[in-house]
Amino acid sequence: MPTGFIGTGAITEHVIVGLLEHGGFSDTIIISERSQPRSARLAMRYSNIRVEADNQAIVEQAETVFIGTLPQQTLDVLSVLSFREDQIIVSMAAMVSVEQVTEKVQPASRVHRIIPMPPNELGVGPIPIYPPSKEIEAILSSIGTVVPVDHEQHFSTFSASSAVMATFFELVAANARWIESTGVPGDQAAQYSQAVFHSLATQAMRLDAQQLQEISAKCLTAGGLNEQLLHATQREGWFDELSEELGRILDRVQ
Ligand SMILES: NC(=O)c1ccc[n+]([C@@H]2O[C@H](COP(=O)([O-])OP(=O)(O)OC[C@H]3O[C@@H](n4cnc5c(N)ncnc54)[C@H](OP(=O)(O)O)[C@@H]3O)[C@@H](O)[C@H]2O)c1
Repeated sequence: MPTGFIGTGAITEHVIVGLLEHGGFSDTIIISERSQPRSARLAMRYSNIRVEADNQAIVEQAETVFIGTLPQQTLDVLSVLSFREDQIIVSMAAMVSVEQVTEKVQPASRVHRIIPMPPNELGVGPIPIYPPSKEIEAILSSIGTVVPVDHEQHFSTFSASSAVMATFFELVAANARWIESTGVPGDQAAQYSQAVFHSLATQAMRLDAQQLQEISAKCLTAGGLNEQLLHATQREGWFDELSEELGRILDRVQ
């Protein structure tokens, strides 16, 4: 049976493109027409995508229904739809609990939340899923690292932590801007900064939890350049501020 997506926004596109480009997904996908330029573009690009103007028509044809509407829209959108008992609902909406979704989609009771990220389009990136589901994990493991989560509280923590994305990109971009400001051509500055962060992220992926906590100290030379920058950012309270703000974001998402 087809897989449905209600809400054809940015994250839905990332997930669908990932599934079709990297996941070998070949089932029919039915998406909502809303965000018309995006739904039309997807249908044009992939022959197994169909567009429906009516959300109920998507629910009726799909076995698994992904929800990709904004948090403030999600419960209202679900309220007017009728689901079947055998369906699986996968909500991507932040700040909307499994309990809240379950209440709206009864008699369907297999409700899961996931936190995809834009790089899943490229077949990489974490995808926490709560509660775990072997069926959904099998589909999503082709577009990233699925993290099965047993407690919704932990899921909220991952949701808050995913807020580092824009700060990461700003760090890569700020590093490139600084290099360029010294007179290096902009393209070369960008290429260098991107390669630095890519290589460090690749190395970080190979570490275990303990090694991750030790790597910044281990790669320092006493009195060297890395030590100078790390100590300066620590003195300025960068990392304390990161923890405090993530805590405030967690308060918001819970
Ligand atoms: N973006 C991310 O990186 C990311 C990551 C993880 C989770 N999420 C979650 O994913 C959800 C979507 O985020 P997004 O960034 O993709 O937002 P978005 O681009 O604004 O997408 C929201 C989509 O919902 C559609 N929509 C609104 N009301 C609808 C209705 N009644 N029927 C059908 N579709 C309707 C919108 O259509 P119109 O444009 O026509 O209004 C739009 O296509 C959010 O809950 C967010 O928390 C996002």
